[in-house]
Amino acid sequence: MTIDFATLAPEGIRGLQPYQPGKPVEELQRELGLTDVVKLASNENPLGASPRVREAVAAATEFERYPDGSAWVLKEQLSEHLHVPQDQLTIGNGSNDVLELLGRVFLRPGTEAIVSEHAFVVYPLVTIAVGATLTPIPARDFGQDLDATLAAIGESTRCVFIANPNNPTGTWLAESALRPFLDTVPPDVIVVLDEAYCEYVQEDGYPDGVALTRDYPNLVVTRTFSKAYGLAALRVGYSISNPVIADLMNRIRQPFNVNALALAAASAALSDQDHVRRSVAVNAEGLAYLARECERLGLGYIPSVGNFLTIDMGQDAAPLYEALLRKGVIVRPIGGYGLPNHLRVTVGLADENERLIAALETVLGAGAGPADSQG
Ligand SMILES: Cc1ncc(COP(=O)(O)O)c(C=O)c1O
Repeated sequence: MTIDFATLAPEGIRGLQPYQPGKPVEELQRELGLTDVVKLASNENPLGASPRVREAVAAATEFERYPDGSAWVLKEQLSEHLHVPQDQLTIGNGSNDVLELLGRVFLRPGTEAIVSEHAFVVYPLVTIAVGATLTPIPARDFGQDLDATLAAIGESTRCVFIANPNNPTGTWLAESALRPFLDTVPPDVIVVLDEAYCEYVQEDGYPDGVALTRDYPNLVVTRTFSKAYGLAALRVGYSISNPVIADLMNRIRQPFNVNALALAAASAALSDQDHVRRSVAVNAEGLAYLARECERLGLGYIPSVGNFLTIDMGQDAAPLYEALLRKGVIVRPIGGYGLPNHLRVTVGLADENERLIAALETVLGAGAGPADSQG
């Protein structure tokens, strides 16, 4: 008898598509035999991590022992850095882990999570995986429409996911918009405010989510070491929440969800705020350059406050994505986010940004047909 194992899995899981990461450099090198590849596809820090991280990782040699499952040292440091008590912190294997914990704590069949159109794909993933209902609401100017979000909240709504700024659009919400929203959301609806890119935002009026958690017990803020701290490979993220919510998450968290090297690296990264400031400055310069170049090329883009820019190609972007790959430049197609004509590009170092723009210019000039050799 042949068993269709898929029928044994819950319906939610059967309906899911696996997360599609940006193409790894090595994969493109293997596929096309290219040597000089630039990856601007996953919103990583082009400066890499602080030199202190290398030192800390090299010094961590007790591989035979389990890591500190309570992440005490990192929590103590974060507690000081953020001015929040340790019992409000939950450390995760990337902020994705924390988002998943929240989904597992609060969502189940019969409950609902609200997400915006063009919102980060992990929110639907964690919602559908546990059999909860996903309610997407149309975006406003590519960003979260808070009025529509409020209007969509009903009896079964348990969670609202909001990214500030949002990936992949780079749009953001001001404190003047967020506070009235939080004042109106029913207190038994958990608002998850994902601040993965908060360090990059320089606009006046951008809220500090951590400060907001003091006023709104139903607010959970998630942050990460993957972006401005340059630790994407090591996987460390965290949340700031009401202690009761942190306690619930802690009950279902894997005992050693963050490994010892990652914990050491995150502590070292947090201690080097100069590196973060440098990373933010490099990003601001690169973002401004990319925006200027888009204007020069007559390409529209969604104004971004993150470390990426989402560019309107004015045509199906998939062939352009492929043509850029053949030029050794990896960017991110975002048809899966409902933006088939856009490409999301991560802000790189100046030479990487220039390489991207040159490649883009060539493939656009070539009518996006098959490109020649690596340029
Ligand atoms: C909006 C947003 N939230 C969360 C994450 C997850 O980051 P990590 O799991 O690396 O902390 C990302 C990663 O791209 C993101 O764009």
